Amino acid sequence: MAIRKVCVLGAGLMGSGIAQVCAQAGYQVAMRDIEQRFVDGGMNTIKKNLAREVEKGKRTQADMDAVLGRIRPTLDIKEAAADADVVVEVIIELLEVKKKVFQELETIVKPECLFFSNTSGVSITAMAAVTKRPEKFIGTHFFNPVPVMKLLEVIRGYETSEQTLQAALEWGKSLGKETIVVNEAPAFAVNRILCPMLNEAFFVLGEGVASAEDIDKGMVLGCNHPIGPLALSDLVGLDTLLHVQENLYRELGDKYRPAPLLVKLVRAGRFGRKSGKGVFDYKK
Ligand code: CAA
Ligand code: NAD
Repeated sequence: MAIRKVCVLGAGLMGSGIAQVCAQAGYQVAMRDIEQRFVDGGMNTIKKNLAREVEKGKRTQADMDAVLGRIRPTLDIKEAAADADVVVEVIIELLEVKKKVFQELETIVKPECLFFSNTSGVSITAMAAVTKRPEKFIGTHFFNPVPVMKLLEVIRGYETSEQTLQAALEWGKSLGKETIVVNEAPAFAVNRILCPMLNEAFFVLGEGVASAEDIDKGMVLGCNHPIGPLALSDLVGLDTLLHVQENLYRELGDKYRPAPLLVKLVRAGRFGRKSGKGVFDYKK
């Protein structure tokens, strides 16, 4: 089935980016969140990103208007999903919440609609199992910031069909992304490697081994990373990183234990750039 209409559930950091790249590629997009302020926040981010490209001469104003015209922001899940060819789930990284949303979607969408999840690491198979279409369910894991990062990690669940895999790969290509295919495992391939490194940076900071600035400087200058692990954690969102790390710990054991300092910062509401404060402080 050809994908023309995309429903993006969640208008946060990732949902807004995914809605933007889909609209840029010519898809009709409905972007849904649970509160008006989140929908507005997502639309503002997209407008800012596009306006920056217009300023730099990389995009015309007419093109920006056309991209925005293809995005329908909404609070109504029925209105957003009923005519969709694919729903991309981009909500909070909690399996139980995601399962509930997929169960609700099952009562709304067309029989042929595909389900894609942007989860950072929870089980694709477990989410698919609560739907009536596990063969039409797949993980499509984008990287932050979505308009910039080239990779789409595509994750096969236990029942995912070859047709669904091909549809996800073609869709990724149409968005200008490179793809890799992985079989389901906790945190898949990239985050299985990345998140323990970010978590380790919080152990190193929490144990007083080095300052936050020097940890990041060390990894940028010593390992050629574009930004340090603590700044990257702030970009990802410390709440999201903690959810990923807790899931790895639950599934794979002690080596993945979340750093106490990461837990403490999340408890303090320091979620990173998106809340204005994480390891570092940001002007909002
Ligand atoms: N949205 C859209 N575009 C953005 C952007 C954003 N949030 N942030 C930066 N850009 C664009 C800029 O406009 C600029 O574009 P041009 O080259 O066309 O001018 C370009 O990206 C470079 O930006 P800057 O010069 O402002 O800054 P930079 O060179 O430091 O790049 C960065 C910013 C791309 C974020 C870079 O710091 C980087 O690559 N960081 C690492 C990102 C990373 O590792 N992401 C993966 C996170 S893990 C994940 O996503 C998985 C998970 O499940 C948790
Ligand atoms: P975010 O906190 O920026 O946004 C999440 C959004 O989901 C919020 O606006 C929230 O209101 C909304 N939401 C919560 N419950 C909802 C529901 N029941 N229905 C609809 N919307 C709901 O988080 P994010 O960083 O965009 O992460 C979203 C998903 O993408 C998570 O699964 C995360 O693991 C994954 N992810 C995040 C990153 C990253 O770097 N932040 C990278 C790749 C994947």
